[in-house]
Amino acid sequence: MTLDLKIDNADHENRADDLAQNVLGQDNARPDGLDKATGRALYAAEARPDGLLHGFLVRAPAIGAVACPDIDTIRKMAGVRTVLRDARMIRNAAQGAANEAPIQGVDKAEYVGQPIALVVADTFEQARHAAQSLTVEIQPKEVPVNPQDVSPEDPDDKQSAQGDLDAAMRDAAITVDETYTTSSMTSGAMEPHAATADWDGTTLTLRGSLQMLKFNRNELADSVGLNPENVRILAPFVGGGFGSKLGISADCVSAALAAMELGQPVRVVQHRRHVFEVNTRRSETRQHIRLAADSDGRLTGLGHEALVSNITGEVFAEPVVQASHFAYAAANRCLGLRIARINRPAAGSVRAPGEAVGVTAFEVAMDELACKAGIDPVDLRLRNIPDKDPESGVPFSSHRLESALTEGAERFGWADRPAARRQRREGEWWIGTGMAAAFRVNMVIEAEARIRLEGNRAVVESDMTDIGTGSYAIFSQIAGELLGLPLDQVTVRLGDTDLPPGSGSGGSFGAASTGTAVWMAGMDLRRQIAARLNCDEAALTLKDGMAIHNNQRHPLSEVLGGEDLSGHGHVQPGEAAEKVRQATFGAHFAEVAVNDVTGEVRMRRMLGSFACGRVLNPRTARSQCHGGQTWGIGMALTEAMTHDRRDGHIVNRDFAEYHLPVNADVPPLEVHFVEERDPWAGPMQAKGIGELGICGAGGAILNAIHHACGARMRDFPATPDRVL
Ligand code: MOS
Repeated sequence: MTLDLKIDNADHENRADDLAQNVLGQDNARPDGLDKATGRALYAAEARPDGLLHGFLVRAPAIGAVACPDIDTIRKMAGVRTVLRDARMIRNAAQGAANEAPIQGVDKAEYVGQPIALVVADTFEQARHAAQSLTVEIQPKEVPVNPQDVSPEDPDDKQSAQGDLDAAMRDAAITVDETYTTSSMTSGAMEPHAATADWDGTTLTLRGSLQMLKFNRNELADSVGLNPENVRILAPFVGGGFGSKLGISADCVSAALAAMELGQPVRVVQHRRHVFEVNTRRSETRQHIRLAADSDGRLTGLGHEALVSNITGEVFAEPVVQASHFAYAAANRCLGLRIARINRPAAGSVRAPGEAVGVTAFEVAMDELACKAGIDPVDLRLRNIPDKDPESGVPFSSHRLESALTEGAERFGWADRPAARRQRREGEWWIGTGMAAAFRVNMVIEAEARIRLEGNRAVVESDMTDIGTGSYAIFSQIAGELLGLPLDQVTVRLGDTDLPPGSGSGGSFGAASTGTAVWMAGMDLRRQIAARLNCDEAALTLKDGMAIHNNQRHPLSEVLGGEDLSGHGHVQPGEAAEKVRQATFGAHFAEVAVNDVTGEVRMRRMLGSFACGRVLNPRTARSQCHGGQTWGIGMALTEAMTHDRRDGHIVNRDFAEYHLPVNADVPPLEVHFVEERDPWAGPMQAKGIGELGICGAGGAILNAIHHACGARMRDFPATPDRVL
């Protein structure tokens, strides 16, 4: 039996607040934390099956036709088992539809760094040495590598207009008409992409570092020519993904092909430079933003038109203007997205695709408007909150931006801020504060989960992943809440395609999607237990391992009578998506010091105030927001992938030269959650939180720089040369 839920309306049974176990919503530690901290958690590259061989990827040093004239010599080198040059190994489709053919082949390098061979040997050192000895000859091909060198594609479905923005701009009391640019960026997960593949003649088992197992299984099966039933993927622990592990990559497919050819397990680990080049990056963007407002700062028109890039054949286009559809009210609107086809490494989703860069730039434009209008930046946002979706006219499912702004401002001490810039100076440092609003679309996707009840122990099972987000923690809490079990009597098993297919981790939809499936599985169990006691589920209390009905207490083990029970939950999106606009909202505040002599920017403090529906676990939710705020610091101040203008290759492809914020760069970060329940979000009334924290975070910092020293940043990151 399966308990199904289709998200069609706001009427589904709301039991989130009345089960009253108080497990859900608690600040619980991660059950997987100790295993991770002590090294017992097994990551993709840490399995050591008998007979393990090691593969090393070879990347193209230039763009053009590829030849490997000495490949047979390399094949005879010490320890070398095979050199794979198989077109199927390059699986780089960012969104990885299962039936889409790989776009690139090994005989033609479309970008510098594209994998073109895999060398497999007895030891890692032998494989690396042989890979580095392989001669790769390229017949160079002239291709465009800079967005400004091509005519961008103008896909019709990406443009939308309402009213007459040009007229609104002409008639407005105040306007902003500026262009902003953001750089190409890496996802930079701590655990590099890695795969260990094993083939027993029937079944391919792959330990991978992947986010979306049910899709990844189909992609891998399709790539190597197997039925999905003959592919099993294990990813119980994933050291970060941030979008770069949504689809399978070259390490997975090449390890699988080599294991199938050699009949021995093969491991392929990407090193950091591989990670930069072989996997998808965040596209650079150019964003033309227009704002028209009356003298009170009420928007009469807004325009947000962006240019992004990707390699030919990739369907992904960074959805830069996604939040601009619903963020602010304005009668005259013009939104658009165009894509430049250039031969840089493929672009794909990176944490909060679209809003991460789109909201950041838009919120700088809003700050420019606030300055021109002489209106407080928080006040300007408050004046432009739409009462319904400004384009479609449908209501919001829940909308707490106003509270996020006012509660955040209060906690940050915004009221004390001098309105004018260049007001605070400490030695050679200018001090300033800035703010930005945060917006992120909210999605639910299909998911299944199972809970097995064995005596007074519950085991939650799904192929869902935990990419550092806290899936293990919140699913144990959901099961504990529904079944009245203390958390040490709940076990969560994830990351195995033999288990019911969850949502996977992506797009901030994991907790609410798979979490709701776990909820439904728990509800299914409650109904089965109630049936055994001849009562209604609603009349049943489960607490401390007891089933309580009519003041009679039955130990769960007695109700089960030695049998195991299994509850199954299934959730899928329904008509809600058309009836309401569902999103998450927030506000960022930042204080910076800007050095008047060097242009260096140092973070003083940050505060984020977020409205994301019910918070399932404040500790893991806060931790997600801290991650987002930290990415905001990187986006505002240091992170930029530099492409060589001649061949597009990534010049700074390691963490020595691509500057992520490290502990010393990160000031005290405060996070506040606005109390919210979203009735359209299913019985838990929770929305996503994973990506909201990054959306706009950098904007608050860039606006603080302007407040501190008067320099307006429109090209990000704000490195010292741009600040001075
Ligand atoms: Mo996310 S960028 O959908 O992992």
